[in-house]
Amino acid sequence: MAPRNPFTPSFGVSPPLLVGRAGLIEEFGEGLDDGPGAPGRATLFTGPRGMGKTVMLNATEHEARRRGWLVISESATKGLLDRMVTEHLPGLLRQVDPRTTGRRATAASVGGLGSVGWEHTDAHPVASGLRNQINRLTDLLTANETGLLITVDELHRGRLDDLTEICSVIQHSFREERQVAFAGAGLPAAVRDLLNEDPLTFLIRADRHVLGAVSLRDVADALRLPIETSGRTITNGALARAASSTAGYPFLIQLVGYHLWRQHPSAVSISRSDADAGMAAAARRIGSLVYEPALKDTSAVDRSFLVAMALDDGPSRMADIAERLGTDGNYAGQYRIRLLQHELIHSPWRGFVDFSLPYLREYLRDHAASLVSAALPLTPTPAGVEAP
Ligand SMILES: Nc1ncnc2c1ncn2[C@@H]1O[C@H](COP(=O)(O)OP(=O)(O)OP(=O)(O)O)[C@@H](O)[C@H]1O
Ligand SMILES: [Mg+2]
Repeated sequence: MAPRNPFTPSFGVSPPLLVGRAGLIEEFGEGLDDGPGAPGRATLFTGPRGMGKTVMLNATEHEARRRGWLVISESATKGLLDRMVTEHLPGLLRQVDPRTTGRRATAASVGGLGSVGWEHTDAHPVASGLRNQINRLTDLLTANETGLLITVDELHRGRLDDLTEICSVIQHSFREERQVAFAGAGLPAAVRDLLNEDPLTFLIRADRHVLGAVSLRDVADALRLPIETSGRTITNGALARAASSTAGYPFLIQLVGYHLWRQHPSAVSISRSDADAGMAAAARRIGSLVYEPALKDTSAVDRSFLVAMALDDGPSRMADIAERLGTDGNYAGQYRIRLLQHELIHSPWRGFVDFSLPYLREYLRDHAASLVSAALPLTPTPAGVEAP
């Protein structure tokens, strides 16, 4: 039977080998070891889709568990606060508190066939608020010299009320030198929106890491080692081509790895032609997996700007973009800022912009017609910027 494909081209699933993030993971671990007040105890990861934010939250959770800490792993979706106080915290309290459940024999079962039934009476009623529950839990954990890590993925302004409450309680815990840590992750624009909210000063002070591409040497390891561990090999030529085709973009490492593996899964060695076929398959799929959802978050004019950029083979001159859009530099500049905030583009040098993600240019070229149709005609609004 052919060995199993080790690569994980799915969002949120930790890769067979996590590369290029050792320093960040170590820094977070040090924050746990250094005690209350250490900067890593409030950490935020941002970066474009597929850059490995969720995987970094998984890594922080692993660091915490390795140290005996308890973990609440959540996403900023509807009902976040409610799940914290009615499910996670009561569950953890039951787990660590020896006095948590009083057991008493139930009359009905005593009268049965000699077996005694037990009814659990909860010492941690759901009603006790977030702060009480966290205080009680961390009091108990301090005795074991461990603590509580709370991770929240997909940070978003839509859950502002819940996040405000959670952050304020964590901030109190920090002040009281409790063993609590927080790690959050979200898309750059969503996190930036949140950080503009007054009640969330806690997050502003968090250690913020913008995740970017990893080095090609790291990519080569991330491809080769899982292949070898799974019992196959890859030629040097195939590895070099496959690695550079990812441009260091983590999701593409997994997608390219997955497709080059599956060309001839029973062959021991992965050849250069397997690599070429795998790269082509990955390039075809990345559009619907990454760019389609990413472009949904942009406005029609944002997309026209991107399509105008895709006419160039390399970095685009801002003056050319404005001309192609038939508008002035000032108006084009507003969209430039928005797209920089989305981290879909970056500015390699003054007056120029380029794409931040591999194959985005090719995707835009292939889909230009459907992407810009909604944006025309393109004329500046009086306010200068269309609502997002
Ligand atoms: N450092 C890394 N080395 C190797 N593979 C990685 C690395 N980071 C992430 N990956 C892989 O990339 C893919 C995307 O990672 P992840 O889901 O964490 O991205 P994300 O930034 O959370 O994306 P989204 O914004 O859509 O939530 C996963 O398949 C993951 O295994
Ligand atoms: Mg994610």
